Amino acid sequence: TSHPINIAIDGPAGAGKSTVARLVASRLHYVYVDTGAMYRAVTAIALERGIPPEDEDAVGRLAQRLRVDLRPGEEGQLVFADGEDVTSKLRTLEVNRSVSLVASYEAVRMKMAEEQRRMARAKGVVMDGRDIGTHVLPDAELKIFLTATPRERALRRFKEMGEQTEITLEQLEQEIVERDRKDSEREIAPLLQAPDARFVDSTGRSIDQIVDEIVEWGRAASRTISAGEK
Ligand code: CDP
Ligand code: CDP
Repeated sequence: TSHPINIAIDGPAGAGKSTVARLVASRLHYVYVDTGAMYRAVTAIALERGIPPEDEDAVGRLAQRLRVDLRPGEEGQLVFADGEDVTSKLRTLEVNRSVSLVASYEAVRMKMAEEQRRMARAKGVVMDGRDIGTHVLPDAELKIFLTATPRERALRRFKEMGEQTEITLEQLEQEIVERDRKDSEREIAPLLQAPDARFVDSTGRSIDQIVDEIVEWGRAASRTISAGEK
């Protein structure tokens, strides 16, 4: 029987990390952990409670106190903050605009990384984010750096937003590039490809192709470890 491993998937916004990670987890019967949703939950709660995202001390204190839980739901992962389901509040333009600032704070990152390591302790986890392979799970048996061109990533997000959007494709691309820049340039655990991560460019490739590839690599890594233990 094969040995469960941890799979880390990092990359910029709209690369397909959460879509791919969820499907890889379901194929391998692993647990999926969306770490971006945790930073979004802290941001959404700060905005809701009138804590300015610029106030590092106040946001840090909030993150230290807040209980963020991820639970499987009918249509994907649900996010709870202090017991309240906040899933529908996480993907707003306001949260998009403040989340990278909130995620740059040391107190916020320390708390989230601690929770994430706890979730991965038993192995059999597919975790996506920005610093999973470099920082949160440096020992993950399989690491993927998933990306695509900024235009393609913006287009994917634009399609998701549907008719009622008040933002143009060009604005969305600008916002995505700006968020990637903040995530890559921050001091603590920036967005970066781990030296031992496999680079995957999903531009022009289907979700199924990417998922098949990662599932194969995951199975191979798991077999290697099982063989090593015999
Ligand atoms: O889905 P999308 O790629 O747009 O974003 P996300 O994965 O939900 O992450 C939202 C934001 O959270 C990112 O832009 C980062 O600022 C932050 N984040 C992070 O700093 N570290 C992680 N491991 C995951 C997300
Ligand atoms: O989590 P991340 O921000 O990296 O991206 P996502 O939210 O999983 O994916 C953004 C959109 O790209 C989703 O609507 C996917 O269906 C679509 N997509 C993809 O993920 N991978 C491809 N190869 C093609 C499209």
